[in-house]
Amino acid sequence: MRESKAVPAGTATLKYNGNAYELPVFTGTEGPNVVDIRKLYGDADIFTYDPGFTSTASCESDITFIDGDKGILLYRGYPIDQLAANSNFLEVCYLLLHGDLPNQKQMQTFGHAITYHTMVHEQIAQLFRGFRRDAHPMAIMCGVVGALSAFYHDSTDIEDPRQREIASHRLIAKMPTIAAMAFKYHVGQPFVYPLNNLSYTDNFLRMCFAVPCEEYRVNPVLSKALDTIFILHADHEQNASTSTVRLAGSSGANPFACIAAGIACLWGPAHGGANEAALKMLEEIGTVDRIPEFVRRAKDKNDSFRLMGFGHRVYKNYDPRAKAMQVQCHAVLDELGVHDDPLLKVAMELERIALQDEYFVDKKLYPNIDFYSGITLKALGFPTSMFTALFALARTVGWIAQWKEMIEDPHQKIGRPRQLYTGVKERNYVPVNKRT
Ligand code: SDX
Repeated sequence: MRESKAVPAGTATLKYNGNAYELPVFTGTEGPNVVDIRKLYGDADIFTYDPGFTSTASCESDITFIDGDKGILLYRGYPIDQLAANSNFLEVCYLLLHGDLPNQKQMQTFGHAITYHTMVHEQIAQLFRGFRRDAHPMAIMCGVVGALSAFYHDSTDIEDPRQREIASHRLIAKMPTIAAMAFKYHVGQPFVYPLNNLSYTDNFLRMCFAVPCEEYRVNPVLSKALDTIFILHADHEQNASTSTVRLAGSSGANPFACIAAGIACLWGPAHGGANEAALKMLEEIGTVDRIPEFVRRAKDKNDSFRLMGFGHRVYKNYDPRAKAMQVQCHAVLDELGVHDDPLLKVAMELERIALQDEYFVDKKLYPNIDFYSGITLKALGFPTSMFTALFALARTVGWIAQWKEMIEDPHQKIGRPRQLYTGVKERNYVPVNKRT
């Protein structure tokens, strides 16, 4: 079980209704201190109010640290650019789950555990038959991942550490298989089974792009780029979908149901669906000369249009992942000999214009991870509708690591926010024949 590491750092005083309330303040290893309001409602009969949780820490966590002003992202203390340059996705999965980089024996054991969980129950292939072929892959991912609890009853007891570990391994291992099956079903090709002698990302690429009638050879440059893209997407503190997984898990729901809830939340265009929306935006802009029209619309309060792939709740500086994403984008386009991708030209000119425009500068709106990922994934051969499914594949390890941390926190309880009620006061029922 996980013990709190928050360090007392004095108090904050709230004056209200003629009383002064001393609220404990705690400090962590990095980032802002927190004021503990857990007893505030009981002591002062008042709620705090923070729709969207812009100023609220929902938990204590050791996993990921973000400094939005400095554009810093650390997984268990390691900077994202060092992990992207030197690690691989499966090693980062171990790091996020266990807190330290694995030694060779640990990595071998972990790799074997993941590899030998990559197949799904054969009945799951039947589940896909119930969807239309044009079903959005995220709709399929929500349904199939949620259904995993119907197949793997031996890893749904969240109180059993061994069952939690098996469920974690199953989810990390099976997400590529399920995502590849969603892709194959979408394009009308037969499912491809995983091969145990391939690396995690090589296996995924083969399950997506191999066909029975010919040998498939993984391009190592493209596989390395996609593996790095998975690292960039693996975890990101208490974002909307991770908070969804934690909230679902706080009720005691099984891990498969919790991850399905995270997938559903990630799908939104303001969150993980932004990579699909950003590419569609670039395609709608089409040419560099049309950029000013869209920048004007993005600034127009009366126009709901926003520059997809721009802005972030936490980053008020360049998203460090966006820089790494741009490197992978160029690596993939260079490997494929795509030197004049019109969408890349539009993206780079849009970024240049936006970063000089006072609206974006004043609001500290920079490209985020979703801005360049769409161009890269399209070049790798994925349809736009698969982009968020790939984000979900990579983020599963972050969701699971955060879920595990919450379950192992002895102080965790069911999440149950309150509200500011502004509805009508109590009134009596009126029979329908007496209503006007
Ligand atoms: C992800 O939280 C995470 O960590 C998420 C994520 C992860 O790894 O889990 O990083 C992944 O979701 C990245 C974000 C992907 N979403 C998009 O690219 C969609 C476009 N971005 C926006 O929808 C927006 O920037 C959000 C949702 C990302 C952040 O919204 P906030 O923090 O709630 O900020 P806001 O909507 O209050 O915007 C502040 C101001 C507003 O103007 P004012 O009301 O102050 O006048 O900035 C404006 C907004 O209108 N604004 C934009 C804009 N984003 C914000 N204006 C134009 N285009 C944009 N993209």
